Amino acid sequence: MNITVRQGEIQKQAADVLVVNLFSGVRPGGASGAVDKALGGQLSAAVDLGDCKGEAGETLLLYTLGQIPAPRVLVVGLGDQQRFDLESARRAAGHAIAALSRLGAGQLPVESAAQAVAEASLLAAYRFDTYRSNDRSHPLKKLTVVEFDQTKLKQARRGVRRGIALAEATYLARDLVNHPGGQATPAYLARTARRIAKAQGMRCQVLDEKGIKKLGMGALLAVGQGSANKPRFIALEHGPLKGAPLVFVGKGITFDSGGLSLKSVEGIRTMKTDMSGAAAVLGAMQAVAAIGLKRRVVGLIAAAENMPSSTAFRPDDVLRTLSGKTIEILSTDAEGRLVLADAIAYAARYKPAAVVDLATLTGACVTALGHHASGLFANDDDLAGQLLSAGEQTGERLWRLPLWSEYREQINSDIADMKNSGGRPGGASTAAALLAEFADYPWAHLDIAGTAWNSATKPYIPRGGVGIGVRLLTQLALDWSRS
Ligand code: BES
Ligand code: MN
Ligand code: ZN
Repeated sequence: MNITVRQGEIQKQAADVLVVNLFSGVRPGGASGAVDKALGGQLSAAVDLGDCKGEAGETLLLYTLGQIPAPRVLVVGLGDQQRFDLESARRAAGHAIAALSRLGAGQLPVESAAQAVAEASLLAAYRFDTYRSNDRSHPLKKLTVVEFDQTKLKQARRGVRRGIALAEATYLARDLVNHPGGQATPAYLARTARRIAKAQGMRCQVLDEKGIKKLGMGALLAVGQGSANKPRFIALEHGPLKGAPLVFVGKGITFDSGGLSLKSVEGIRTMKTDMSGAAAVLGAMQAVAAIGLKRRVVGLIAAAENMPSSTAFRPDDVLRTLSGKTIEILSTDAEGRLVLADAIAYAARYKPAAVVDLATLTGACVTALGHHASGLFANDDDLAGQLLSAGEQTGERLWRLPLWSEYREQINSDIADMKNSGGRPGGASTAAALLAEFADYPWAHLDIAGTAWNSATKPYIPRGGVGIGVRLLTQLALDWSRS
């Protein structure tokens, strides 16, 4: 999709369709007022008749019959003016994938409104057609954002550019999640990392199975040892070499069968999504580089396929992690925390300012929060606050869950430093408690098990991989680089 910003009066634009907005309970004004006037009061008439209430998600199509150059006008409801925010702007843009206008002019800063419009239009237009033999038509080819005020043109352009960068990075993450496990293997993730590093001028380092073993990442090695698709450890680095970096860590289980603790027929479905944390990290690294962030950011990915076989690791095994701490295996299906233990320990080498890991880690987190928020765990209140704020700004909501010492006690082992399952009670917190053992710096963990895959219909998120975390992490990095 080609997105541009142009100065002008909306009713004079030549386009297949003009999009204007309407708040609930207010008369047409601004862009919608100008269009209404040019159409001889058609929109006001619709409002007066109660056909158009301006409610969120509502749309009304008008035919202009030669009164203005554009043959159609799409009116998009924005809902209550008092409650209008960036999420409503994104949702409205999602509803109006046909096209858009100056969403919220006067209500929101032009730059972020323009960003939300470009971003959400692209996000809503996303399709994953790689495995279809017939190309399906795409809803949008061209979108022009029209800004009346000359002095705001530059901000609008900047916002659109940022929206495009974020949407493209989210596309990358969604594609990675949507590819089946047989395609998106650990080696495929490594190739993708190298490709974006080259395109964006980032440093990239990949360890294969031998390198992982040599370094002493016994947990990542064990999880990957049952599969013919061998594990990889991936490090991407953006920005200056000096300075304490912000580090992102992603769980990259390219398929989670459960291993010898094999999942059920029901439980195994959609487990190609178990690398969504890794996808978020790759997407965020691309976005951070594309935006040209001035500070140092590192992305780490622990990639492996969890399979049952005669070479697979087993329940009762004891693994030695990179940190030297040992873990007793109760279930080979609690594999995410194992690969993350090594990656989180590795992150200490960067002397990081903060580390955030993302993982489709527990079914327990889905039970707790459903699909409406990711679980947040942190050993640092400042970092937790910054993440909560980034979550509100991007609409990728987080909800903080506890990391009390009782959860740590639940994973005490009789023969090792800890065990990899604390049973059903508090399953998201006991998993986080294991991770916390390996983080001796400001650290937060996001459990995205419930938010990585969308099976409902949402305004700007089609069914399938969400690309969750890309916009959130990029926002966190932007806010951090300004502090
Ligand atoms: N990848 C799963 C978690 C998951 C479940 C993600 C549902 C997305 C949707 C993880 O590796 C897992 O299997 N966790 C187990 C842990 C248990 C064995 C302690 C779980 O949550 O059941
Ligand atoms: Mn598992
Ligand atoms: Zn898993």
